[in-house]
Amino acid sequence: MPRKLSLTRRRALWLGLGACLGMGTVTGAKAAYKRYQILALDDPTRDFTVTGNAPLKARAQAKGLIYGSSARYKDLIADPDLANELPVECNMLVPEWEMKWSAGDALLRPTPDRFDFTLADRMAEFAQHHQMLLRGHTLIWHLCVPSWFETGIHTDNAEQLLTQHIQTVAGRYAGKIHSWDVVNEAIEPRDGRSDGLRETLWLKCLGADYIDLAFRTAATADPDALLVYNDYGLEYDTFECEARRIAILKLLERLKAQGTPIHAVGLQSHLDGSETCFNAEKFRRFLSDIASLGLKILITELDVEDKNLPADVAVRDRIVASAYEDFLSVALDETAVIAVITWGLNDPYSWLAETSPRSDGLPIRPLPLDESLNRKLAWQAIARCFDQCPKR
Ligand code: G3I
Repeated sequence: MPRKLSLTRRRALWLGLGACLGMGTVTGAKAAYKRYQILALDDPTRDFTVTGNAPLKARAQAKGLIYGSSARYKDLIADPDLANELPVECNMLVPEWEMKWSAGDALLRPTPDRFDFTLADRMAEFAQHHQMLLRGHTLIWHLCVPSWFETGIHTDNAEQLLTQHIQTVAGRYAGKIHSWDVVNEAIEPRDGRSDGLRETLWLKCLGADYIDLAFRTAATADPDALLVYNDYGLEYDTFECEARRIAILKLLERLKAQGTPIHAVGLQSHLDGSETCFNAEKFRRFLSDIASLGLKILITELDVEDKNLPADVAVRDRIVASAYEDFLSVALDETAVIAVITWGLNDPYSWLAETSPRSDGLPIRPLPLDESLNRKLAWQAIARCFDQCPKR
């Protein structure tokens, strides 16, 4: 009869310690392997040579494309150099805050029955003054809502709130907007719905057809604007991105089948420089699937997060530039892609500075220009992609 092992306290401690060490070893090995993978992303011999000195907007225009950037009014006012450089490099402006319901110092909707267009008008005037296209972002989203929203919206007023907002905002800028992100980030497969839609207040109050309603209302308010569905997390060869691609295609097919006036899809394209699973063939097929629905595509919020990349600026810039070029060369091969917008033009104003700072405290470097508005390898990578892509 085998001796029953008496699990004494001492033995339990040793077992626990062994397990932790084992786990620690596994965790340590995984971290070391990730660090190796990231360093393997760097190719010091990679060529980012660009011909000539033309700005990104000119290189884009030469291929029938648009290059633009988001910006915040407060930054344009505070930084004249940025305000001067933006129209040099970009032929499209996207207000990062000012046309949302509420973001930062921009409160478009102070109360359920008031609108404050002060800052949105300033951004529209800036674009007009510099003869830039203006992109509206965003009419219907579950985030960036004013404090009264969560308690102020319910089943019997949601439709009026949604339609009045779109009629008023899209109507005010009718004829001045290149494209509107009519609905933003409406899918979330993890919410478990068979249609892959995100459980938002809009969905709870109005059902899945709130999306169709938003597009139809926008089409009436501004018949000249390209009407876009915008979303994120669609770029990589991961289970989550694949589920999101399936969900968005399901949504787009449904909208097209029911005659919703949707013209394009916005792929936010917030990339991660340390991500190693970008599958060009899968992503290219996804773009073809969207285009086969008769929809145009905009890369709407392109940037490359560098928080997990090495501190060395030369290495980091090369990896970020490689991520831009590897992604954009595939995206621009699809001629349904009509615009590339970076989410910011230069590093200090990136949203990532607040949301994804580096643990070593070094300034992040996710965008085409640096803190002094000098062109970086990322700028060269984007320029190369415009120069080498098929003409529209
Ligand atoms: O800095 C102010 C603070 O002084 C103030 O007290 C506070 C009051 O709300 O706001 C702070 O500003 C916040 C800002 O980030 C800086 O942290 C804004 O509220 C907040 O809205 C803003 O976040 C923005 C976010 O959308 C939500 O609006 C980011 O700037 C913006 O880059 C980000 O952009 C989104 C797109 O719209 C949709 N796709 C994803 C993308 C990134 O999240």
